[in-house]
Amino acid sequence: MNDRVSETITQPRPLFLRAIARERVERPPVWFMRQAGRCLPEYRALRAGVRDMLALCADPRVAAEVTLQPMRRFAYDAAIVFADIFVLTLALGQEVWFETGEGPRLGELPSLEAMREAIQAVPRNLAYVGETLQRVRAELEPERALIGFAGGPWTLATYMLVGYGGEEGRAKAKAMALADPARVEALVDLLTEATIPYLVMQARSGAQALQIFESWAQSLPEPALFERLVIRPHARIVQGVREAGVDVPIIGFPREAALPLIEPYVQATGVQVVSLGTATPLEFGRRLQGGGVAIQGALDPELLRAGGTSLSARVQELLEAWSGGPYVFNLGHGVPPDTPIEHIAAAVNQVTRWRNP
Ligand code: CP3
Repeated sequence: MNDRVSETITQPRPLFLRAIARERVERPPVWFMRQAGRCLPEYRALRAGVRDMLALCADPRVAAEVTLQPMRRFAYDAAIVFADIFVLTLALGQEVWFETGEGPRLGELPSLEAMREAIQAVPRNLAYVGETLQRVRAELEPERALIGFAGGPWTLATYMLVGYGGEEGRAKAKAMALADPARVEALVDLLTEATIPYLVMQARSGAQALQIFESWAQSLPEPALFERLVIRPHARIVQGVREAGVDVPIIGFPREAALPLIEPYVQATGVQVVSLGTATPLEFGRRLQGGGVAIQGALDPELLRAGGTSLSARVQELLEAWSGGPYVFNLGHGVPPDTPIEHIAAAVNQVTRWRNP
C-alpha cells in the first residue's frame, strides 16, 4: 500500500459528511448560514479597511481568513467559503455594488447573448473562489468539512432584473415573472447553465458539499411557477454537476418554500440535503428523513439573537425531534448581524454536547 492510500484511510471523515451519508453518528453536525461576517468583531475590524465586501471575496488570502474566523471561535463542524451570490453576476458582466444601509445595487442587465458567451469563462473568472477554498481546506482540521455555494437562479434573477432587492424588488421581480414568463425563464435558464461550471470548479477546488441558496423561493407559492423557476433549474444543476463527475452532496435551500412544495422539490431535484424553514412541523421533518433525504435547519435566527432559556429549549426540541435521522443542525436562515456571540457559542455547544440515543 502506498502512502497516499494509507493516508486517505486514516484521515477522519468529517462528521458533517458521515451524517449526510446516513451513517450512524454520535450527534448531529452543526454550522450556521451566514456564520462568517458581520456578527464577528474580528470581521468588522478587517472589513473597516475595505471598500466593499465583494473586494474581500476577490482576495483569496483575506477571504480564507474570514472563512476561518468563525471556525476558531466556535465548534462548528463545517466552514462555508466566504463569497457572495453576486460574484457570479459580476462574472457574467453585470455590475454590483453595495450602498451603505441599502443593500445591493446592480448595473444594467447585459444581453442574454453577452452573458451566454461569458459562461465558458466563469471558472476562470471566479478562480479566486477556488483559491480561497484551497487555502481553507489546507488549514481546516480534517474532521471539519468545507462547503461551497451559489445563489439559486431565481434569487439571482430577481436582483439582476430589478437592480435591487428588498420587499419592493422581490414584488417587482415576481410581477415580471407573471407578466413576461418567457423573459424571466430565459434568464433563469441561463443562470442555471452558468451555475453548473461554477459549482463544479468549487468542488474540484476542495468544497466537500455544495449549497444552493434560493432565498426568494418563498415568493413563488404557486406550484406551476415554483416548478418552472425553482424545481427545474435546481434539478438541472444537480444533473449537470453529476454529469461533470462531481459526487459531493448537494444541499437545497428553497427558503421558506410553501410546505406542500418541499417533497416535490426533494424528489424532482435529487438533492441529498434539504434545508428547512423555521415554521416546519417537526413531524414533517421526520417524514422527509424517512423518505431518504437528510434535513438541515431550522432554528429561528431571532431566537439565536434573543438567547436564554427560550433558545436552549428550542435547540433541545429540535435535537430530540430530528437527531434520530440524518440531520444537520442549522438555522432557518442566516445569523442576524447583531447576534451576541455568547448566544452562538451556547447554541453550538448545546448541539456538540448532545449524544444521540
Ligand atoms: O454564510 C456565510 O457566512 C458565507 C458567506 C455568504 C455571504 N453571502 C457573505 C455576505 C453567503 C452564503 C451569502 C449568501 C447570500 N448573499 C444570499 C443568500 C443567503 C441569504 O442570506 O438569503 C443573498 C441573498 C446574498 C446577497 C447579499 N449579500 C445581500 C442582500 C447583501 C447585503 C445585505 C446584507 O445581508 O448585508 C450581501 C452582503 C454580504 N454577503 C455580507 C456578507 C458577510 C455583508 C457584508 C458586509 O457589508 O461586510
